[in-house]
Amino acid sequence: MKIENMAINSRFLLCFLILCLTTTCCYGNICLPRNHAALFVFGDSYFDVGNNNYFITPIQGIRKPYGETFFKYPNGRFSDGRVIPDFIAEYAKLPLTLPYLFPGNQRYIDGANFASAGAGALVETHKGMVIDLKSQLAGFKSVSKKLRKELGDIEAKRFLSRSVYLFNMGANDYNVLVVEKRNAYSTMKFVDMVIGNQTSVVKDIYKLGGRKFGFLGVGPLGCHPLRRVFVNGSTGSCLEDAQMMAKQHNTALSVALKKLERQLKGFKYSFTNFNDLVLEVMFHPSKYGFKEGEVACCGSGPYRGQLSCGRGTLMKDYYLCDNPNEHVFFDYTHPTEKAAQVYAKQMWSGSTKFTGPYNLKKLFED
Ligand SMILES: *[C@@H]1O[C@H](CO)[C@@H](O)[C@H](O)[C@H]1NC(C)=O
Ligand SMILES: *[C@@H]1O[C@H](CO)[C@@H](O)[C@H](O)[C@H]1NC(C)=O
Repeated sequence: MKIENMAINSRFLLCFLILCLTTTCCYGNICLPRNHAALFVFGDSYFDVGNNNYFITPIQGIRKPYGETFFKYPNGRFSDGRVIPDFIAEYAKLPLTLPYLFPGNQRYIDGANFASAGAGALVETHKGMVIDLKSQLAGFKSVSKKLRKELGDIEAKRFLSRSVYLFNMGANDYNVLVVEKRNAYSTMKFVDMVIGNQTSVVKDIYKLGGRKFGFLGVGPLGCHPLRRVFVNGSTGSCLEDAQMMAKQHNTALSVALKKLERQLKGFKYSFTNFNDLVLEVMFHPSKYGFKEGEVACCGSGPYRGQLSCGRGTLMKDYYLCDNPNEHVFFDYTHPTEKAAQVYAKQMWSGSTKFTGPYNLKKLFED
């Protein structure tokens, strides 16, 4: 071989070789810290950071007072400020994860957020108004394709296996069940469907290389301000039917995850029993720095559980508290930024009473 050709060949090779210095690896023009792990987020309004802004839907947190504290403007988050995945990204030393649909979003090396307010694990849930879980998975598949192109098959797979996949699904499915479909399904059958659809998405991500999964169970749906008013017009107690769904969901999810751990080699997970966690915070608010555990900051009616917060001209009259940090709930069902931080801390490195077998910190580090 001529010297000239060899030089060309080696230059050609260099472009495709992975260049690893002591702390950074470069692929083409992308350089990353060694062992860089990303955060991929799937879920509903608890996790949505603005995907619903980019298609036509009535389910959008785009009016004041949403967004009033941290970002200072409504941005699609159903919160006064940040939501749970914002804190998880911070703890993992990643930048705020962008909505997948954010125009021009092409950089997936730190992850992506596919969550959509109102979404469920079942395609029927709020159909046409949300990105359901299967469509969120389709978004991830297209991201993983782009990553394979950029990093090459082997390195993309390694990167995806180091990354963490965070899920929060089911609340909207059960909200629909409580309100519309109570006579059509038994709770057990419905829970099986929700969990079945969620685990099938997890298995697909596993096939693409995903190994580290974080799950937030379903919160105390029957005790949210929204549901308090449904009990025979009285405002005293949690709606038992919805509470039963939340408990059964969390039990079934933790059983399904144990099964996946046995079936899928290298599968690691963190599960947070969100029902137990939120009830603990709601009913011991001062222990966690809150003044009010049950009544929302923004809304109207008993417990401020009516859907009037941030509805613009649809419903102008709602009450807004002076300091959202004193409340566990911001509106009829969503946490304040401060409560989201309490929950995120628990998921990251909190008590094994609520989170196990891994916590998210261990998942990222392992
Ligand atoms: C997923 O949900 C659909 C309803 O949308 C249901 O018919 C199907 O059985 C579920 N799949 C699994 C694996 O449970
Ligand atoms: C609601 O009221 C009806 C009729 O008074 C009664 O039969 C039912 O048990 C009540 N339900 C609850 C949850 O209190």
